[in-house]
Amino acid sequence: MEYLKCIVKETLRLHAPILIGQATAMSAKLRGYDIPPKTLVLINSWAIQRDPKLWDKPEEFPQIDLQATTRKKLNLPPSPPKLPIIGNVHQLGAALHRVFQALSEKLLSQRRVQAFQFVREEEVANMVGKIRLSGVNRAAVDLTEMFSVISNNIISATTLGRVYEGEGFVLVSQDMFIGGDNTATTMEWAMAELVKNPSMMKKAQEEVRRVVGEKSKIDETHINQMEYLKCIVKESLRLHAPAMIPRATTTGTKLEGYDIPAKTIVIINSWAIQRDPKSWDRPEEFIPERFANVSVDFHGQHNQFIPFGGGRRGCPGIGFAAIEVEYVLANLLYWFDWKLPDCGRGEDLDMSDVYKLVIRKKFPLHLVTVPVMRSS
Ligand code: HEM
Repeated sequence: MEYLKCIVKETLRLHAPILIGQATAMSAKLRGYDIPPKTLVLINSWAIQRDPKLWDKPEEFPQIDLQATTRKKLNLPPSPPKLPIIGNVHQLGAALHRVFQALSEKLLSQRRVQAFQFVREEEVANMVGKIRLSGVNRAAVDLTEMFSVISNNIISATTLGRVYEGEGFVLVSQDMFIGGDNTATTMEWAMAELVKNPSMMKKAQEEVRRVVGEKSKIDETHINQMEYLKCIVKESLRLHAPAMIPRATTTGTKLEGYDIPAKTIVIINSWAIQRDPKSWDRPEEFIPERFANVSVDFHGQHNQFIPFGGGRRGCPGIGFAAIEVEYVLANLLYWFDWKLPDCGRGEDLDMSDVYKLVIRKKFPLHLVTVPVMRSS
């Protein structure tokens, strides 16, 4: 029954039922990105098997052309080409969703976030030491690099290194490290905005120094009293939302005259939503005060402000990220004064952004410090 065999093969080509999950054995480079060892890579057999470079009329099932006839009726919107390899666990289906749910309960609960305070303290103390050394050597500090290192160290130490050792954790490591990138990027934007706006930097430093006093260490409980700092973090996340929100439609729908079939990947552009003049006054300006004494926050209840997404797929790392960004910034503002190298003017700082998995600053942030003298 050769023809029957052909039908089975063609069905498997056009409707590959599963994606192939493989973990990388060693580190590699892919399109300029570093892929660490043990990263879960998904080979998108569905897309490969419909690749027009490999197949003639790839979307057609030659004899029984049911799908093609139904497709023809649809007025599909313009869309980007399908990627043969998906490196984004977000786009997966129901099973992984459950893994993430379990993950958020198990790993990123408020209790666990607090339990790992000592990791943040250790890492921040380390970072402050290194910055101090750069100050002594009169060298500029590469904050971009430093934020990236500290975020990854904290995530590794709290998740991979300690909690999940030996639990086959490679599955989620990639998303968590994207989370680390988002966290680092948020710190970077906040510092860049403060250097650009010296009066805000001064106001934030005054608050941090008033709350902490002359103590030798900032306690995370101090952070709750730093309202202006919290506004700065929110405003940084509004103006520079690092991540887009991927979703898949469950049923077919119509949008502005286009047919959107079920299971279409939709990207919610939080970056644009958070700069929408219908929702925000002077949306392109960095104004932390807009968050003072208002209830708008980033937990997904306010549709105009969704840097962490929302609903059941909302970012489970939200508590983890917020305290980390606030704690790192509080320390930088407490221990040092900051300025641009070569007497550069804050207002001239280049704030261009670039999309590299997260929307980050295009140019790394290099600053010099002026250590603040303290008795302890
Ligand atoms: C400022 C820092 C961060 C930002 C702005 C951010 C943003 C986001 C966004 C927008 C999503 C998609 C949410 C949605 O689809 O509704 C997401 C998902 C996710 N984030 Fe974060 N994130 C951050 C930090 C973190 C951290 C530190 C971790 C882990 C420790 C983390 C772990 C995750 C995971 C596992 C998912 C996938 C959840 C799912 O698909 O069910 N994120 N994040």
